[in-house]
Parts: sequence; structure tokens; C-alpha cells
Amino acid sequence: MTDSKAFSLGSNVSGLGQKGLDHNQVIAIDGPAASGKSTAAQRVAVSLNFVHVNSGLFFRTITWWALKNGLSEATDAFLEALGDLDINLERFQSDLNVVVDNVAPGEALHGPTVTEQVSAIAQLPAVRSMVLERLHYASSQFDIVCDGRDIGTTVFRQANLKVYLIADVLERARRRLAEGKHDMSEESLKREQARLNARDRADTSRVHSPLRKAKDAIEIDTTRMNLDEVVEVILSLARERKLG
Ligand code: CDP
Ligand code: CDP
Repeated sequence: MTDSKAFSLGSNVSGLGQKGLDHNQVIAIDGPAASGKSTAAQRVAVSLNFVHVNSGLFFRTITWWALKNGLSEATDAFLEALGDLDINLERFQSDLNVVVDNVAPGEALHGPTVTEQVSAIAQLPAVRSMVLERLHYASSQFDIVCDGRDIGTTVFRQANLKVYLIADVLERARRRLAEGKHDMSEESLKREQARLNARDRADTSRVHSPLRKAKDAIEIDTTRMNLDEVVEVILSLARERKLG
């Protein structure tokens, strides 16, 4: 709680472009759903004394806000309200939380409704450019480890290090279910795999900034790796590049 600090990302955001990259370091971690991006990114950030920016949280927050306000992404009303949306970032230890209209939605962001709807919202150019501006602003303030889908390909093309995490979908489903302490029956695993596959399909097939491995990203297959091993590989890549 002691380290919590809100800063506004309002009117001073536009025009920042990638200026922050001249000064601050960026590690980009992309990959499909539940490949271990945000947990690894968070631990790498703590080790290097960087700030972790989970870009998925922005898309989840905008989705949560749209659902709460009965806004469908396919309408002009949605785009109009989006223009007035008050999104701030709040620093909490080594992370940034997203706050919308002074509310931090917290656990609701990871509920089934937001998770089902988020890819539809995330494909909209207006939503993507709003998030991109805020990510650029975050990097102008801090050295960051940023995880998402298009961080290495679009948001920070000049990142100091790009990592692309993958894992078999069955392993990813296991990890997701273990997180929520759900049962691991064959039926549950099948359902979770179907959900992950559907989201990956939507994220890889959209027109704007689809999920892709950047040409200069280093791919790590984490299927048979534990978290410590994944973090150590990323940290050794960071050390090779003299980051941190
Ligand atoms: O943690 P998980 O992999 O389940 O998803 P997330 O990182 O929270 O991202 C939620 C959704 O936001 C993704 O399925 C994408 O539709 C979208 N997203 C995106 O389009 N671009 C990003 N850089 C990050 C997330
Ligand atoms: O951000 P993303 O959706 O890619 O994945 P995550 O939320 O970081 O990871 C999903 C779950 O898998 C978390 O509970 C991690 O602790 C776990 N995990 C794991 O068990 N082994 C790994 N090598 C990586 C992640």
C-alpha cells in the first residue's frame, strides 16, 4: 500500500510516440493466452527493478467498463463514450494497475464474462490506439517489462529484448484451471482448451495488430518448464544485453 501512486494519463499522452525508448529500457513478452507471460514478466520486473505493465489489463478494463455501461462494441455510442473514458494507471510496488473512472475493477477483470468478450473489444482500432498511447506513456516514465500480444510487433518495435512464450494448449489449460483451483476433470480441461483456442484464434486472425511472434523475438517453449526456469532464461537474456 505504501508504494501506491496514481498518475494521470490524460491530455499529456498524445504525441509522445516512442520517445521513452530513447531513455528507458523495454522488455517485451508476447504469446498466446495462459502461456505464463504476466507471471514471468512480473518476476523479471522485480529482479531488474523495472515496472511490470500487463497490457491485457487495459483491454480487460475497457471490456469491463463497456459491459457495466451496457455498451456494445459495434455501436457509435461505444466509440463516443470511449473518447471520454477516464483511464489512469496506479503504481503499486513493481506493477501498474488500471483504474477507470476512479475504480480499480480488481478480480472482476478475470471473470468469465470479461474473458469471453475481451478479444472482440481488443480488435477495435480506437481501443488499440488508446491502449498504445498509454503503454508508450508508461515507458516514458519507467523501465518496463510489458506483456501482451503485439508488444514486440507494434507497441515497442525497438524493445531491448523481445520474448515470445508458447506452451501446449493442454498445459496452458491445466495452468489456468490450477489457478482458480478448479477441478481437473477431462471435461473441464476440454472446455478450458476450447476457450483458450477460441481466444487465440480471435487474437491471431484480427486485422489490427494480430498476435504474432516478432521476427527478432526469442521463442521459449515453456510446456515442460517451471516458472523459475522461464524467469531464469529471460533474466539471462536480459543480462546478455546488459539490461537493468
Ligand atoms: O492473461 P491472458 O493471456 O488470458 O490474457 P490477457 O493478457 O489478460 O489479454 C486479454 C485479451 O486482451 C487478449 O485475449 C487479447 O484479446 C487482448 N490483448 C491484446 O489484444 N493485445 C495485447 N497487447 C494484450 C491483450
Ligand atoms: O499472462 P498469461 O495469460 O500468459 O499467463 P499467466 O497468467 O502468467 O500464467 C498462467 C498460470 O500458469 C499462472 O498461474 C502461472 O503461475 C502458471 N505458470 C506455470 O505454472 N508454469 C509456467 N512455466 C508458467 C506459468
